[in-house]
Parts: sequence; structure tokens; C-alpha cells
Amino acid sequence: MVSTLPSTNQIANSSLRYLETEGSASPNQRLLPLSARVNQHDHLDVGGCDVLDLLHEFGSPLYILDEMTLRAACQQYRQAFAQYYPGDTLVMYASKAWNCLAVCAISTQEGLAIDVVSGGELLTALKAGASPNNIYFHGNNKSYRELHQGVEAGCRIVVDNWHELKTLTTLTSSETPATILLRLTPGIECHTHEYIKTGHIDSKFGFDPDQLEAVFAYVAQQPSLNCIGLHAHIGSQIFELQPHRDLSGVLVQWMETAKRYGLPISELDVGGGLGIRYTETDDPPSITDWAQVVCEHMVTACQAANVPLPRLICEPGRSLIGTACVTAYTVGGQKTVPGIRAYAAVDGGMSDNPRPITYQSVYRVLAANKMSAPLSETVTLAGKHCESGDVIIHDAQLPILSSGDILVIPATGAYNYSMASNYNRVPRPAAVLVQNGQASLILQRETEADLMRYDRLPSYLAG
Ligand code: LLP
Repeated sequence: MVSTLPSTNQIANSSLRYLETEGSASPNQRLLPLSARVNQHDHLDVGGCDVLDLLHEFGSPLYILDEMTLRAACQQYRQAFAQYYPGDTLVMYASKAWNCLAVCAISTQEGLAIDVVSGGELLTALKAGASPNNIYFHGNNKSYRELHQGVEAGCRIVVDNWHELKTLTTLTSSETPATILLRLTPGIECHTHEYIKTGHIDSKFGFDPDQLEAVFAYVAQQPSLNCIGLHAHIGSQIFELQPHRDLSGVLVQWMETAKRYGLPISELDVGGGLGIRYTETDDPPSITDWAQVVCEHMVTACQAANVPLPRLICEPGRSLIGTACVTAYTVGGQKTVPGIRAYAAVDGGMSDNPRPITYQSVYRVLAANKMSAPLSETVTLAGKHCESGDVIIHDAQLPILSSGDILVIPATGAYNYSMASNYNRVPRPAAVLVQNGQASLILQRETEADLMRYDRLPSYLAG
């Protein structure tokens, strides 16, 4: 029990240092969910639930998703777009960040449309209650079946390339047309990891600027394709605002060219990309500041070109859901290599968070069962997978650890569950949604039976 209030020094030198008190910070500028607190047992609470109780009930490791933070981020995007853009706006959730029924249902309830990139994501969005004309189907290699699924459901199809364009003409007719947007490569560079840049010319996504006039001319000839918009996405985990300032000008210029070919362009989609805080040195703009820049530059670009304002669309993923989730693990064994390094191993790793090994992403960690204990140790947090690179954090600052301690990694809502795997045949963790002291299971923990479900043993191999 913590009987007295911790001193400033104690806060600075314990996991309490990560509990921001300024409630007004934009979700993407915080390390922890809005509801994160320390409770009277010196444990971390999220959504009014003690993290240790959650692990006791739902098992370890566990994704813990704070409903309040997700809803607040949705609301900030919608309010900012309504405030700063004098025309029609649409905020979409890029569900690749975390696509499951509960998350799609919450974003839909908050009035967001949904961006999907596969038949599976589309199915989930529909089952979660999203209305088809509020679903935008992205992706650079949608199969015939997926395109058919999207057209039949009545979604907007964001066409990435000639192959998709021509396939679409074969599965639509003037009686059953498709409503489409065209994805363009804007030729805009930004500072982020090489793997998550998409706006530069050498990108696998979108039509090349040199091709555009030919694409517009082709689409204008297709009575079964109703092209209402243009789309571009620059990249992800971006802190700069300049690339989005530049993008408005590029999109408006293309809209003008498309209109010369008779295309009734009324929507411009600027993609997503706003970064979040993974460590205290990350300093992204707030959701509101990002939205203000995007809106104001779209207005300026339209005024300069003397054209009416299009419907302005954005499709963030990470900045909506990233900060809303923390992942809790249980400490197992420890190892010290004398004079070199101390390791502590946890019961998950690259199968539930592949971002460190894929993008060298850096995270912070909290000791959820000893929040005010001094951070006296430097420990490398190892995952449980058979791969030396399966390290969640190098040289983390932690209290003296024992087996059974509970560690929490913040900012694991975006691209963690969605990129999770069964590497080493490890079942994927469960996920719970927490709010006001209530925890609801939203993803069941995988079982050994799930792992074996798709195995087939040819009879000649059976012993
Ligand atoms: N729109 C399009 C067309 C996209 O490709 C993406 C992300 C988004 C929107 C959402 O971007 P966000 O707001 O989340 O930055 N797995 C990587 C990130 C890949 C991003 C893929 N596209 C990671 O873990 O960092």
C-alpha cells in the first residue's frame, strides 16, 4: 500500500514518471491512455481496472484497450475538421491499424467512416455495422474476388493501378456501376522509417504522375466507373506538417486536370500519417493542429485555383488507436551476462509486437505491480521467441524484478494486434476493452486447438 503521496524525486525515478497529469494533451501526444492511473495498491489502473486483476481474469500477455482514449481521439478529429474546414468533411478510421469488430463498431459509433484493405477487413467493418457507402476499399492488389465483394457491397473503391481499373470494368456495367477514387503517388518525401513511406515516386502504391492524364482519359470513357475522388497517402508516423501542406496543392492541381477530362471530382482524400508518442522524446503535433493545417491548406489551395471546396477526407489509423492500448506481460526468467547486460524475459514478444524487430521501434515500459519502486536497474526486455532480435526494449530502466512481475508497454494499439503472428506456434493474446471499471473481452485468447485447426496430416505420414 502507498500510504503517503510520492515525492517529486520518487515520481521521476519510478514508473510514475510516465503518468502524465495534464489531461488536456491530445491522445497522440501522450504515452499512456487518458484513463491510466496508479491505484492504492501501487498498481497501474487502466479504464478503472487494475492491470493485475485484468491479467488474473484474462491471462497474460494481454492487450488492454482504453475506450475513453479511442473515443476522445475520434472526437478530436471530427471536431477539428468541422471547425477548420468550411466545406463537407469525412474522417475515416484506417482499420489496418487494428481491425476487429469492437474497434470498428466504436469508430462507427463515433461517426467515422472506415478504410479497409482486404476482403477480411471489409467483412469485419460490415459486420461491425459500418454502412457500405462509408467504407473505402484501399489496397494495391485487390483480387477479382475482393473487388467484386467491394462493388457488390456498395463500397467506394480506391483504385490503385491499371490492373485494378481494368478488372473493375469487367465486373461493373452502366446498370451496376462502381463509385471509385483514384490513388495517386504525390511525389512528396517525409521523414519516417523507409518501410512506411508511401508518397515518394518510387512507391508500389498508386498511379504515377506521368500516367495521370492517360488514366483520367480512360476513366472518362467508362460508363460503369463513377470517379468521384482522388486520394494520396504520404506515409506513417510523421511529425512534420510540411508534407501535408504540400499535398493539398498537389491534389487540387490534379483535381483540376481530372475535371478537364470530365471527371466529376468532389472528394479529396489526404490519407493519414500523423505520428504518436512512443517515448518522451517523440513530439508529434496534436490531432487538432494537424487537422488545422490540412484544412487551411486545402482551403488556400482551392482559393488559389479558384475552385469550389471538395469534400475533404482524412484516414488516420495510428493516431486514433495507438495510445489507447497497452500490452501487459508477465516476467519469467532473468539472465545476467557479467559486465555486459542483464536480460529479463517476458511471455510474449515479436509475435504480439513485431514493430521493434521490423522497424527498430523504441518503446517504454512500466512496472505495473510496483509503480513507485525506484528504477534502479538497466534491463534488456527479451521476448520469448527463438530469435536473438526478439527484444522488446534494449536497456530499459526498471525496478529490481522478480519472476511474476507485471510489465506494461504503452502505445501498442496501432499495428500490433493487426501484425501479430503465431511465430513459434505461440497463440495470439486476448484483448479487453476497458472503461469505468468494466472489462469486456473483445478478442479471445487463441488456444492450442486454434493452432492446430488448419493442420492436415497426409495419411501416409500418420504413425
Ligand atoms: N491510408 C493509407 C492508404 C495507408 O496506407 C495507411 C497506413 C493509413 C491511411 C494510416 O496511416 P497512419 O495514420 O496509421 O499512419 N505497420 C507500420 C505502419 C504501416 C502503415 C500502413 N499504411 C507500423 O507499424 O509502423
